[in-house]
Amino acid sequence: MSDRRPIIAANWKMNKTPQEGVKFAEQLTTKALNLGRVDFILAPSATGLFHIHGALRDSAIELAGQNMHFAERGAYTGENSAAMLVASGCQWVLIGHSERRHVFHESDEDIRKKIPAALSAGLKVIHCIGERLEEREKGRTREILQHQISNDLADLSGFPADKLIIAYEPVWAIGTGVVATPEQAGEAHAQIREIVGQLFPGPSGEQVKILYGGSVKSDSAAALIRIPGIDGFLIGGASLDVDEYCNIAEIAATEVLDNR
Ligand code: 13P
Repeated sequence: MSDRRPIIAANWKMNKTPQEGVKFAEQLTTKALNLGRVDFILAPSATGLFHIHGALRDSAIELAGQNMHFAERGAYTGENSAAMLVASGCQWVLIGHSERRHVFHESDEDIRKKIPAALSAGLKVIHCIGERLEEREKGRTREILQHQISNDLADLSGFPADKLIIAYEPVWAIGTGVVATPEQAGEAHAQIREIVGQLFPGPSGEQVKILYGGSVKSDSAAALIRIPGIDGFLIGGASLDVDEYCNIAEIAATEVLDNR
């Protein structure tokens, strides 16, 4: 992925059947011909991956799993391994999404094990972090980000900046319609870059891409992407509509490539 191109990732969560996902992918591939100035990543549910991969085959649009288990195989009913995601066409996987942490009670230890497991299977990782409202209100945002980054990346020997994206998704902004202000997001992104730089000194810490996620829509995208530390978006609800998703991508491309 080239350096200044915004990354516009879609997390569909538990939405869209495989058939609906294929239809979206077919529409996106035609639209994306005109939107070749951003890098698209789609994260459909596991059941749709293989078919959507087929629909995306001739495009540069990449595919992500929404979750994976850290084990290679075994008695883990309901889970998918990294190798299964790769075989279904994924280049990426989301790890540590706030719904995995807070709805499914995924532990720090689970998340810490998943990241090296994904990388060694050949997947690139979108590592999701973010504070809850009560943590922000108590002034603990930086402490939470520091904890999540240092815990979750503890088992990596170095920081593979080309294989790891961090997505800052404040929990209070996810699915609530309350988008972080550019100042709030900019401050958190700067803190994340500093924390990563301290933990992993050297160019890779400086180069890591950091996405913002949480109620991004076409009306909030321009002001957010103008912040220099924001390299793109991880979009939930607004990514379900192909026109809205493409509008956000077009806005990001215009702001970053034409104006920044
Ligand atoms: P919304 O865009 O629906 O707030 O979801 C954000 C998100 O959780 C993406 O991973």
